[in-house]
Amino acid sequence: MAKIIINPDNISFNTEISQTILEVALSQHLNLPHGCKNGTCGACKCKVISGDIILDKYNQKILNEDEKNQGYTLLCKAHANTDVELYIPNLLNSFPVKTLPAKITSIVKIGSIAILKCKTPPKQKFGFFAGQYIEIMLNGKNRSYSIANYSEDGGEIEIHVKYHKGGVFSEFVWNELKDNMILRFKGPLGNFKLQNSKKPIILVCTGTGFAPIKSILESILKSGVERQINLYWGNRNQQDFYLLDKLNEWKIQLNLKITLCLSREQQLGFIDGYVTDCIRNDFENLDDYEMYACGNLKMIEDVYELSTLKLNLKKEYFYSDAFTPSI
Ligand code: FES
Repeated sequence: MAKIIINPDNISFNTEISQTILEVALSQHLNLPHGCKNGTCGACKCKVISGDIILDKYNQKILNEDEKNQGYTLLCKAHANTDVELYIPNLLNSFPVKTLPAKITSIVKIGSIAILKCKTPPKQKFGFFAGQYIEIMLNGKNRSYSIANYSEDGGEIEIHVKYHKGGVFSEFVWNELKDNMILRFKGPLGNFKLQNSKKPIILVCTGTGFAPIKSILESILKSGVERQINLYWGNRNQQDFYLLDKLNEWKIQLNLKITLCLSREQQLGFIDGYVTDCIRNDFENLDDYEMYACGNLKMIEDVYELSTLKLNLKKEYFYSDAFTPSI
């Protein structure tokens, strides 16, 4: 057994070498910075002050040799071989992770997407940052879904569920879930969240990666902060897009430019190609921008490479949440 100490907040917990530091922290409801949980997004990168860590295989583009030599590690790939001290600032400046019931208040199906709304108990305050996610607990399995709305009191939660044939949660949603049923969930989780700044932002998503992007847009709308926003949303086919009416409303209320990209067909009003093609066509220099990307891992890697290596985006201003479909 090894002891993990996190400073400057002096938080500690015990871990075993068989588990990653991130796994143990999350199991104890300590929301350490993380995104993909598989060594590809860099959200869990942090500085090791002392101690010996063994790293599982990870994407070298995310943690390069220089950073490793400077003592940085990836918590989702790190096993403590001795007691370890980590430096992670602002850890206590976050919402507590809770396990709560939530009553379904609305189920709307648009094509292969179900938009679920549910309410947490009035006495159990649930707060979250726009961009975070929850884990739905069903029949002993957990499925991760980004929160798609933003509410200051946190009482209502919206998630977007894509139908996958045979998928544990999506089959349940399509065949069994009804209004007023109770689901249990754990959250808020993840560190993909809107930063407190006024920089122009680029939002990039594929599929239901639109969910946390919608939450971010709602939070900007509610804050009243003026920001220049470029949204790139990619899908294979036109029918994979949903809530376009809502987006068009926000186009008027926000300083928002929307680009919808289609990779498998050509349609009027949509740009032919991947989100990376569209960003490459529209920008020469992203030096002063923040970028938020959510969707499949390949898209995130491609956007990261394009924006940081070719378009001068500063690495520290790239925020991502990569996901694999929950089957
Ligand atoms: S690299 Fe560790 S959570 Fe993504």
